[in-house]
Amino acid sequence: MKASGLSIKPTVLKLGGSVITHKDKPLTANLTAIRRLAEEIAEAKIPQLIVVHGGGSFGHTMAKEYAIKEGFRGEASQLLGFTKTHQAMITLNNLVLEALIQHNISAMAIAPSSFIVSKSGRIATMRYEPLKRLLDMGAVPLLYGDAILDFDKGFTILSGDQLVASLAVHFGAKRIVVGIDEDGLFTADPKEHGRPDLIRKCTLRRLRKLRRQIKGTNACDVTGGMQGKIAELMPAIEEGIPTLIVNGTISRRIYKALKGEKVTGTLIQKNEGAKRHH
Ligand SMILES: Nc1ncnc2c1ncn2[C@@H]1O[C@H](COP(=O)(O)OP(=O)(O)OP(=O)(O)O)[C@@H](O)[C@H]1O
Ligand SMILES: [Mg+2]
Repeated sequence: MKASGLSIKPTVLKLGGSVITHKDKPLTANLTAIRRLAEEIAEAKIPQLIVVHGGGSFGHTMAKEYAIKEGFRGEASQLLGFTKTHQAMITLNNLVLEALIQHNISAMAIAPSSFIVSKSGRIATMRYEPLKRLLDMGAVPLLYGDAILDFDKGFTILSGDQLVASLAVHFGAKRIVVGIDEDGLFTADPKEHGRPDLIRKCTLRRLRKLRRQIKGTNACDVTGGMQGKIAELMPAIEEGIPTLIVNGTISRRIYKALKGEKVTGTLIQKNEGAKRHH
């Protein structure tokens, strides 16, 4: 038994907003991708799975419009923006939930804003009990990056990436699988540079060096794009949790990553010789 009290190590899967939405079109979901991913998740039959999805063109667009991440300025219009950002996430979440349930996955959506409060943007309090009980029963907790309350800022944005790392560490995850719209982590942003190299394997040491090269913000990502993602995942990698970044827009990649099969992507491990977890 782990300190978390779970008998099996869960897998934490992040479905990137870049996969499940069209990031350049406000409030536009990619239903084809969502349904295919639900099918892959169903087929993988992972005994204990937590699914977290990102905001894509639902969360980020609205969060940016109302500067939610910067905190509450005391204006009623911004407060309305906070609730609208959360609503946009619920809308996207419900599409993911519907697809999962249609594939007979016992997914249970829980709003992060209902059980997490942050302090200056970092998760400060979280109630783990409902998640643990769901996992024990074999249900799949479904969470997302959300507009949440913050002790210092009033409210802020909690990225799906921070949530993924935090849950993985708490529950002693077997692995983290992160789906994005590129083949993995490259030496530079493939959207801006001709043909950067795909980093197939990476240790924490190399990742720290690479971080400076990885692009910071992305026009429609309030949580720092790839640089933010890597920074958030680091604590989980430091705990020895193998983390795989794969292309979720390509069929079967997430399936293979979930199963621990060989797959195109970036495998990040704490040390060179770290044994593969199956
Ligand atoms: N070195 C890099 N390797 C791979 N992708 C990179 C790199 N640098 C920047 N990127 C960009 O990061 C993007 C993925 O991060 P982004 O935050 O936009 O998506 P996401 O996390 O899936 O979405 P969300 O935050 O909504 O969940 C890719 O679309 C890619 O263009
Ligand atoms: Mg992101």
